[in-house]
Amino acid sequence: MLQKELSWWQKTVVYQIYPRSFRDTTGNGIGDLKGIIEKLDYLKDLGVETVWFSPFFKSPQKDHGYDVSGFQEIDPIYGSMQDFDILLESMHERSMKIVLDLVLNHTSDQHPWFIESAFSRDNPKRDWYIWADGKKPNGKKPPNNWKALPGGPAWKYDENTEQWYYFHFLPFQPDLNYRNPKVKEEMFNTIRFWLDKGVDGFRLDILHSIYEDESLRDDEFSWHLLPSNKNVASLFRKHKYDLNLPETIDFSFELREVIDEYQPERFLVGEVFGSIEEMSKYYGPQNNGLNMCFLFEFMDSKPTVKVYKRVISRIEKALPYPYIPTFVYGNHDSIRYISRLNNNPQKAKLLATMQLTLRGVPFVYYGEEIGMRNVKFDLKTSEDPIGKKYSKFPLGTIVKLLNISVSRDGCRTPMQWNSEPNAGFSSNETVEPWLPVPESYEKINVEKENKNPSSLLNCYRRLLKVRKENKILSEGLFEFMNGDADKDYLSYRKYINDDEIYIYLNFSKKELLLNCPVESPDLYFSTLSNRVALDIEAYNGKIKLTPFEGIIFK
Ligand code: GLC
Repeated sequence: MLQKELSWWQKTVVYQIYPRSFRDTTGNGIGDLKGIIEKLDYLKDLGVETVWFSPFFKSPQKDHGYDVSGFQEIDPIYGSMQDFDILLESMHERSMKIVLDLVLNHTSDQHPWFIESAFSRDNPKRDWYIWADGKKPNGKKPPNNWKALPGGPAWKYDENTEQWYYFHFLPFQPDLNYRNPKVKEEMFNTIRFWLDKGVDGFRLDILHSIYEDESLRDDEFSWHLLPSNKNVASLFRKHKYDLNLPETIDFSFELREVIDEYQPERFLVGEVFGSIEEMSKYYGPQNNGLNMCFLFEFMDSKPTVKVYKRVISRIEKALPYPYIPTFVYGNHDSIRYISRLNNNPQKAKLLATMQLTLRGVPFVYYGEEIGMRNVKFDLKTSEDPIGKKYSKFPLGTIVKLLNISVSRDGCRTPMQWNSEPNAGFSSNETVEPWLPVPESYEKINVEKENKNPSSLLNCYRRLLKVRKENKILSEGLFEFMNGDADKDYLSYRKYINDDEIYIYLNFSKKELLLNCPVESPDLYFSTLSNRVALDIEAYNGKIKLTPFEGIIFK
């Protein structure tokens, strides 16, 4: 099969910014849009092509923006619409694409629609949300046994109108009712509002929970305890009637039609929980659904050759070319990936090499490029509403045993720019940022790593450069070269028609001597910044890889 030239979104690299934590120019300890504008040249120079922003829309900030009270307004904490317009223009001037985070599933309970909806049973906005009578005798029990994603019942009782409303996430985030055509129309108009401004794509927040069973049937029992991004069953519920409904999948096709009204092409990437196979449904039979879904497989898999090989093979099988898989190591909801690797930058370089050379779109979470670590916080002082929710429970031992993080604060700390007070995050050196700057900032920061050729930051920069300069890396097809018995390394080739490039990754702490597929290999990249060539003659025609070294060659 002759390969077609890919569209921009099929070969881009996305960097996620959590605006609260990137750069604060007003000195109030919270990041803002002007701060992001200030740092665009940093991103451009790093080689980032597309930026996805966690929400900066109007919001009471109870879930730091994922509780929207005005979908077409900028929250004053982050700036103004004028700042947004400048941000968009400044990004486009630099040939960078801008992706916004759309929370379609729910609003804040402070959104004017919900305030109206909760006002009375006969309010015209009543059926914009999901209201139901409680169980008899006096209606004081929830309408059914559904559980919210972070645990507990998914219903909240409203004393005023004596009915319950449904929420999939937290009680202050009531779910919108997409069976009401007016809701759909309104949200599609919001999408068009941002597209008309020139936005290039959207990340769709918890899209899998858009629709729920119309007759609100009770959920079934499951042995699954922990919620995960890979399996929707959790907390002893199957989530059969509230997640990944056929209507929700159809909805992704409708969304695609909306963005396809626009040229040049825009894209949608969905946060959808479930197996890879489940996600492929959202991509659609002709990729006429979401352009992409996040594949979270790497976030909680063991970093071993065996596991990665299995995951990559499954992805390649479920989403073959021309479908575009995504590769995600972390985001604002998960433990920073370097901390799952004992904070070892050498291993992080190896994984970055893998992430940026597989077939698909890599998503890099702010700070990953300098090796920012996950931070342990006391739940009692949690900023994150999930941490707050659980702060009253004695969870210590369970959390340790299961190696999970209940609060998401640990991965949301301020970006570490330099060794100055507050790590250069805030223009005000004496302000206390909304989350404390980790102590590691004096060692781990952009300024310091910029100067060090063998830093993680410079490794990312070199990788992004080599990816951009070699079409085969960003657009090529993928094939494993090593067999299942090889436990120490991964090797694969990327190719476009007859042209190919090789990637070898040593996952062991041993030196390895590996077969070389070409007579005189040309080294394009090594995680070792000082390696300039592959001297195969010195090793009987073999390639020598040092511990945890990754290379790209032709
Ligand atoms: C998504 C977001 C998360 C948010 C939740 C509710 O999972 O990534 O941060 O709290 O949805 O909107």
